[in-house]
Amino acid sequence: MKVGVLTGGGDCPGLNAVIRAVVRKGEQEYGCAFVGFKDGWRGAVEGRTVPLGIPAVRGILPRGGTILGSSRTNPFKTENGVRDIKDNLAKYEVDALVAIGGEDTLGVAARLHDEYGIPCVGVPKTIDNDLSATDYTFGFDTAVGIATEAIDRLHTTAESHMRVLVVEVMGRHAGWIALHSGLAGGANVILIPEQRFDVDQVCAWVTSRFKASYAPIVVVAEGAMPKDGDMVLKDGTKDSFGHVRLSGVGEWLAKEIEERTGKEARTTVLGHIQRGGTPSAFDRWLATRFGLHAIDAVHEGDFGKMVALKGTDIVRVPIADATAKLKTVDPALYREAGVFFG
Ligand code: F6P
Repeated sequence: MKVGVLTGGGDCPGLNAVIRAVVRKGEQEYGCAFVGFKDGWRGAVEGRTVPLGIPAVRGILPRGGTILGSSRTNPFKTENGVRDIKDNLAKYEVDALVAIGGEDTLGVAARLHDEYGIPCVGVPKTIDNDLSATDYTFGFDTAVGIATEAIDRLHTTAESHMRVLVVEVMGRHAGWIALHSGLAGGANVILIPEQRFDVDQVCAWVTSRFKASYAPIVVVAEGAMPKDGDMVLKDGTKDSFGHVRLSGVGEWLAKEIEERTGKEARTTVLGHIQRGGTPSAFDRWLATRFGLHAIDAVHEGDFGKMVALKGTDIVRVPIADATAKLKTVDPALYREAGVFFG
């Protein structure tokens, strides 16, 4: 059996761990041959490949990024995209495809399988942790660790200068990174996209924190929105899946806080640092197990499925189930954190 592998969407710590596990088990136990498609769906559309086998995956477990490259190419927005994918799968004699990605990449895999009969198995990745049908995606734990370390470091500057430090974290339209890193880092305010925020309330928390002789850290998710207003964006461009490029709310909020409280407020935008570098042990463990189970699904011909974490078990779910609805933060979970605000 020949298996194609691709990684799509934003890069994410743990992608290489999945590729390694898929290839190691596939070659060693099932006698599979592999081909890598370069840069996500773009490589499958354009027929750009890289050789993939055990020698190519040696030493990649701790490496961030993806040895296959990635892109946000949407074959359904590319002329003859689906036909080209089919032709290239035939050209390279690929019997099955392992697609490693988030909502967009897996959404394409679901459609290719359900509507065009292309044999795909999905593996969920994203630092945002916003995919339904899996308890966690790999990449999230690493991103939370990086954001938490940044918050720890920012506390010392905030205290030394008695200024407000606003930390903008990623997560798109889900507040998972903000909530987990904010709690772990002892933030005094955490703002998430799921709950619109009131700037006056934020300022009241900031002021009360100063009254206790401490300097406040405000963690704001890039997708968080003020109660009366639109999403604050530095740059309104969209990718080929129609997603707007987020970021800007951190800078905006610091200015508002400074004007309304008279306290100096500065912003740190963590950006791609959250996705870079070596994966945490948890993400390597999860990514490796996802890879092992994905190649099992391929071997058994169980296509149209995605591997998912349920408790400590890896299960299979229809890919379409994982992409139908975003997994967002429950209001009750967010309320739990409220005791630390202010
Ligand atoms: O989905 C992962 C993610 O890092 C989001 O948190 C963020 O909004 C987006 O990707 C940024 O994408 P890009 O790197 O393409 O600008």
